[in-house]
Amino acid sequence: MDTKASESVETRPLLKALSGKPSSSPPIWLMRQAGRYLPEYREVRAAAGSFLDLCYNPPLAAKVTLQPIERFGFDAAILFSDILVVPDALGQNVKFVENEGPVLDAITDRDGIQTLSQEKFMTHLEPVLETVREVRSALDPSVTLIGFCGAPWTVATYMVGGRGSPDQAAARGFAYRDPEGFSALIDLLVEVSIDYLCAQIEAGAQVVQLFDSWAGNLPEGEFARWCVGPAKRITEGVRARAPGIPVIGFPRAAGPLYKDFIEQTGVDGVSCDTSLPLAYIRDELQPHATVQGNLDPLLLVSGGDALKRRIDEILQALSGGPFIFNLGHGIVPQTPPEHVGELVRQIRQ
Ligand code: CP3
Repeated sequence: MDTKASESVETRPLLKALSGKPSSSPPIWLMRQAGRYLPEYREVRAAAGSFLDLCYNPPLAAKVTLQPIERFGFDAAILFSDILVVPDALGQNVKFVENEGPVLDAITDRDGIQTLSQEKFMTHLEPVLETVREVRSALDPSVTLIGFCGAPWTVATYMVGGRGSPDQAAARGFAYRDPEGFSALIDLLVEVSIDYLCAQIEAGAQVVQLFDSWAGNLPEGEFARWCVGPAKRITEGVRARAPGIPVIGFPRAAGPLYKDFIEQTGVDGVSCDTSLPLAYIRDELQPHATVQGNLDPLLLVSGGDALKRRIDEILQALSGGPFIFNLGHGIVPQTPPEHVGELVRQIRQ
């Protein structure tokens, strides 16, 4: 690395952690840091119309991306968008129903996959790329901009099930019934995800995170085929076109398979869910990748001494190696914003 590049890592705490260096005060950002727990988000969201309208409105999406940075001074901003803009851009009908979540016209077999089209994919996502450009130009250079997409398995669970489900039965059923057909869907998602992440990087994203929120319900063989393989291909595809851009994986709830995930995908960082023991993260994962996590989002809701104690435990266990403070999953809407402010103060003390 030349002097200029290494200097720039030194002054950007998130990039420094992702380059493998520990820090006396770890960088911090929170998954879903822009969202309904913030009154200023709810105001913009109400003015935007639907949730997807907000995702495709660059000035408003840039504004809500920056809100948590202005309020809390996080070390990273994450693009405001959603993992389901990808199926939307492939021509699948996607809606977000108030108080219900995403609803899609389910794709349940090979014929359904045939209805998807890449023709308008990048044009459709152009407003998201414009948001990335607007956010990057408004951010202080010390604040890192994170781009993201959903991992193919998690995106496929929504595309096949038509909505969120606790067990992802529809996608698991498709994958067992017709693995070759299902792999055509996963392969398509791998290909477009590489294009989409590289376009975000070209527009100004400096790190990318791959969200595999539903990785945890798969047996080991299916985990290897539908989570590890695609994450490896995406990591390698991004590296080939955008060398030096760190990739963070998030195989949520994968338990002891987290270690295989890191070794086999070659990600730079791994986001750890709340259930992973700190000793396991420190001893088994941190020697191989920068670790991120893993405070329980519900502890951030209740706050108080229990929150303070847990923050200290996490800092004590993980600050000796490359570490990014974060939650184990996204902030929930009932989180008091003051608790987030206290969290940031405690980390920076
Ligand atoms: O982290 C951030 O601040 C960036 C923005 C972001 C959103 N969604 C905004 C959002 C990111 C990175 C996501 C990822 C995402 N979206 C995932 C993976 C991470 C995870 O949380 O597991 C998943 C599975 C989705 C799909 C999704 N989007 C669901 C199931 C829902 C409905 C549930 C809910 O919280 O309402 C969404 C909606 C959504 N995505 C909201 C936000 C701020 C709330 C919508 C609103 O404002 O009405």
